[in-house]
Amino acid sequence: MDTHKPILKVDGIRVSYGKKEILQGVDFEVAPGETLCLLGANGSGKSTAMNAISGFVGCTHGKIELDGEEIQNLPAHKTFRLGMVQVSQARDLFPQLTVEDNLKLGAQVRSKSTMLEELERVYDYFPRLRERRLQRVMTLSGGEQQMVAIGRAVMARPRVLLLDEPSGGLSPQFVNEIGTIISALKEDGATMMMIEQNLGLAFKVADRFIILRDGVVVDGGTVADYADDHEQVVKSIYL
Ligand SMILES: Nc1ncnc2c1ncn2[C@@H]1O[C@H](COP(=O)(O)OP(=O)(O)OP(=O)(O)O)[C@@H](O)[C@H]1O
Ligand SMILES: [Mg+2]
Repeated sequence: MDTHKPILKVDGIRVSYGKKEILQGVDFEVAPGETLCLLGANGSGKSTAMNAISGFVGCTHGKIELDGEEIQNLPAHKTFRLGMVQVSQARDLFPQLTVEDNLKLGAQVRSKSTMLEELERVYDYFPRLRERRLQRVMTLSGGEQQMVAIGRAVMARPRVLLLDEPSGGLSPQFVNEIGTIISALKEDGATMMMIEQNLGLAFKVADRFIILRDGVVVDGGTVADYADDHEQVVKSIYL
């Protein structure tokens, strides 16, 4: 196997809402087993880029390849079947259903024994969810709901897991817990692309980062090279 071949390749994508072009030619790649973090100020187009990859918005130009197969402008249910699984900023859970029923909705498998194996795997990552498996999602805290959203995505055994601000609205303790879970997924070989405003979390779990500004990638680097220099990254994002 050619290990240098990217699993996700984004090549010159452009996205417009009405007449306004939000992404003006965005390029990047993610290697198998890698975690790439997409940074950028509010409104810079991070979620738009992720939504274009998962098929929730269409591109006017450019190419997106998953393992060599072109997927730009496929609808979201098709990219999901191909293994591109997104946890959106809004989480999109079913509040009236239990934790376990929400998790089951993520599984692509239909056999009962595989479903139970997948559930066990997710509960191993998220012991908090095992304890609350029969609780309705609407009664969970925000941090627990985020865990259900990530757990449901993990149930699908994604080829690429897309996380839009996993730390959004969470207290430091939950940010830590989410960080530990993302690190465990990574150790088990997951390929991920995440959007994150919390640089502490981003730099704890990501291998590489890119910075989006006004719809183009303006900067990027290897996390290890910036471990002691978050300030420079912050400047590059916001100034
Ligand atoms: N469906 C839409 N229709 C029109 N404009 C949109 C739509 N979705 C996003 N936009 C606009 O596109 C721009 C980029 O939005 P996007 O959500 O991609 O930013 P972001 O970088 O994810 O920001 P944040 O950090 O606040 O989540 C914003 O100006 C936003 O108002
Ligand atoms: Mg966003």
